[in-house]
Amino acid sequence: MNTQFIGLIQSAFEARLKAYAPYSRFPVGAALQCHSGAIYVGTNIENISYGLTVCAERIAIGSAVAAGEREFVAIAVVADTVEPIVPCGACRQFLAEFAPDLIIVSATLRGNQKIENLSHLLPDPKRGILKDVHTP
Ligand code: THU
Repeated sequence: MNTQFIGLIQSAFEARLKAYAPYSRFPVGAALQCHSGAIYVGTNIENISYGLTVCAERIAIGSAVAAGEREFVAIAVVADTVEPIVPCGACRQFLAEFAPDLIIVSATLRGNQKIENLSHLLPDPKRGILKDVHTP
């Protein structure tokens, strides 16, 4: 197991305990490591109108950006699964807005861990978007 991100994983583990996930009963914790050294956490926040649910990763990056952070190194994601989870497609795009090469550290409660790069999970996140747009 890689020990480099133990502190970040611990922060995500603690954040997970605050998740609001009464519908899925699948709490997720995230912890975002900023270039500045600061860490911002997030949990999933569900809604009775299910589609309004926001994942832990997007809450973490929203908190960080709202605090004035723009440069990110890694995000840890923790859930109680057999295999480590990876951010969903929407979160990949959201993370890539600021950090297309973000390191994704995913860990399970049982200590299973996987490290990969966002650029592998979502190549070319901005290709073609808002380019050559015809304005009225
Ligand atoms: N969820 C996250 O918060 N992050 C992920 O990477 C995967 C899914 C949440 C959304 C929802 O509240 C619950 O997990 C089940 O999908």
